Amino acid sequence: MNILLTGGAGYIGSHTFLSLIDAGHKPIVVDTFDNSSPQVLDRLHTLTGEKPVFHQADVRDSDRIADILTREKCDAVVHFAGRKAVGEGQSKPLLYFDQNVGGTVQLLHAMNRTGCKKLIFSSSAVVYGNPEYLPIDEEHPLSTCNVYGDTKRTVEDMLRALSASDQEWSVVLLRYFNPVGAHKSGEIGEFPRGIPNNLMPYVTQVAVGQLEKLSVFGNDFDTRDGTGVRDYIHVCDLADGHVSALKLLDEAGCTAMNLGTGKGYSVLDIITTFETVNDVRIPYQITARRPGDVAACYANPSRARSLTGWQAKLGLAEMCRDAWHWQRKNPKGFAET
Ligand SMILES: NC(=O)c1ccc[n+]([C@@H]2O[C@H](COP(=O)([O-])OP(=O)(O)OC[C@H]3O[C@@H](n4cnc5c(N)ncnc54)[C@H](O)[C@@H]3O)[C@@H](O)[C@H]2O)c1
Repeated sequence: MNILLTGGAGYIGSHTFLSLIDAGHKPIVVDTFDNSSPQVLDRLHTLTGEKPVFHQADVRDSDRIADILTREKCDAVVHFAGRKAVGEGQSKPLLYFDQNVGGTVQLLHAMNRTGCKKLIFSSSAVVYGNPEYLPIDEEHPLSTCNVYGDTKRTVEDMLRALSASDQEWSVVLLRYFNPVGAHKSGEIGEFPRGIPNNLMPYVTQVAVGQLEKLSVFGNDFDTRDGTGVRDYIHVCDLADGHVSALKLLDEAGCTAMNLGTGKGYSVLDIITTFETVNDVRIPYQITARRPGDVAACYANPSRARSLTGWQAKLGLAEMCRDAWHWQRKNPKGFAET
């Protein structure tokens, strides 16, 4: 299939690009480089031996996207483009609604106009809010408690309404848990700008000496060792989940699907495994809980398995190994390698 990847130069998009190529599809990348680098495309070129098909365009430019969909004869879209930092969303709500909700509205107009009505949307476990039970299945009530979550949930609502109103639409909502790690080549990976918000990039930046020590936010949660528990998933497994989800686009309707491993690991599990697998030390200090952080959150991933056959294969050791390989090979990310 010819598949448009909005935000395809980003962390998850670039890994999905490789999975799609491996599966024999033709990905077409659209990106503004708002949160990525043109170097990603060079790396993808090196890894695949082919120059990626790329258009520098903003998803909010509906006419431009419609033109690309037609010219590239796209059969489907995987929509990654958007903003993803919870803290930034709280301080810049208009930016988040504009990019995440407004951007999706414009993309959907372009898809409607050109008759390309198959969409995989990057949603998030954030739509479940504070878990009422664990593991979280797709029937868990939706309840968001920050702007970023509101934008994901609003887009989900919009996509459910759209597919209910028009039987030609086929939509898959992929609710990612906590993607970490990098491609085993170390050529592509996550490179947050500024101080990382997420645990693994923080750990790797401490390991490489760019940050002094890790702050562990709270050790008094109701978990095995008192630190927060999350469902970390290797980004390559996550990328493969998109390829598997493509088969659901053969049928009309809207399907939500968790992409997680089903296993919860604590912050201390991550530190210990990272230190053991990579033979490095991660100095850390216990600090106060962050407002809004929940004790534990992990998926029931059985729907993805039963509907598509997908399940995560890589464990925590591989996630820690590949995250460190990427960081060591690119200590300053893409910009200054
Ligand atoms: N990484 C995570 O932890 C995580 C978890 C759950 C959900 N998600 C969602 O998955 C998607 C991809 O996440 P990621 O980690 O790869 O983020 P990322 O920031 O690395 O990738 C997003 C890409 O979209 C591009 N972009 C932003 N606005 C754009 C626009 N208006 N038009 C075109 N391109 C634009 C950016 O330049 C970037 O390359 C996002 O929608 C995010 O909310 C991510």
